[in-house]
Amino acid sequence: MLMRKVTKVGAMQRLARQWRQDGLRIGFVPTMGFLHDGHLSLVRRARQIVGPKGMVVLSIYVNPMQFAPTEDLAAYPRDLARDTELCRKEAVDVLFLPMNEEMYPADHGREFSTAVVEEKISRCMEGASRPTHFRGVTTVVAKLFNMVLPDVAVFGAKDFQQGAVIQRMVRDLNFPLKVVVAPTLRESDGLAMSSRNKYLQGDERRQALVLSRCLRQTRERVRKEGVVAAARLRDAVAAMVSAEPAARLDYVEFFDPETLVAVEAVEPGTQMAMATFVGRTRLIDNIKL
Ligand code: PAJ
Repeated sequence: MLMRKVTKVGAMQRLARQWRQDGLRIGFVPTMGFLHDGHLSLVRRARQIVGPKGMVVLSIYVNPMQFAPTEDLAAYPRDLARDTELCRKEAVDVLFLPMNEEMYPADHGREFSTAVVEEKISRCMEGASRPTHFRGVTTVVAKLFNMVLPDVAVFGAKDFQQGAVIQRMVRDLNFPLKVVVAPTLRESDGLAMSSRNKYLQGDERRQALVLSRCLRQTRERVRKEGVVAAARLRDAVAAMVSAEPAARLDYVEFFDPETLVAVEAVEPGTQMAMATFVGRTRLIDNIKL
């Protein structure tokens, strides 16, 4: 079947309502585009869940609300022609491309003025470094859910906290859908796939491996030693990161994967997440220890 491109919110909702009436399951993969294999693995997972007769929607929308004024909104990589081709090859049914004018209307006193805010688990880690970020994410994802009306939405474990925040939002606000978090896809050398990897210049690409190396080595250590104080692990990570001239550690945290509460005694099963600048590029990664 041919892939459809839909840009209008009303058209997307009409399609989704028709599918639901016809008893077709809807799988949804929200993205900001510049697609890589990590994104495509989510499409495959969505297809697996809804089956060959089900409908898979992938959205591309670079959401201004989740970028701070100092961040990379304008520079965020885009390649719609390539993304379209990749979606076609993956048998995506609808490529949904909502437009700014409809997402955040600014017309004459009727400006967009509602937000969805998760108030607990979105405050630490990414939320501490980027205080307005998750407000933008939860708001846009809630909007997209109301447009695509999915039965299941698939997110990547690469953005571990985002997955947890969306799961919490869906539970708290009773969105009638299931959230699935699928594993992180990596390059063969360990670097987690990310649209932002494109920013890495020259030797930065090699230095960016420090993230996955820190995660792997910490996991090995915790498996060997059983229980280790978070402070000691944090020191070891800080030392490894500072050995790379272009790298600067933003945060490293050890926490309960369900509650996201930080732990002092790290043991197998504890979640570890970190953010590191490599040059001007901010990268994140995480692992279950
Ligand atoms: P984006 O960064 O484009 O990511 C879209 C989805 O792909 C997210 O669920 C993310 O976790 C997943 N993903 C990214 N890299 C991955 C990898 N290496 N392996 C597996 N999955 C990966 O995350 C966003 O966009 C936005 O915040 C969004 C949810 C679309 C809201 O604007």
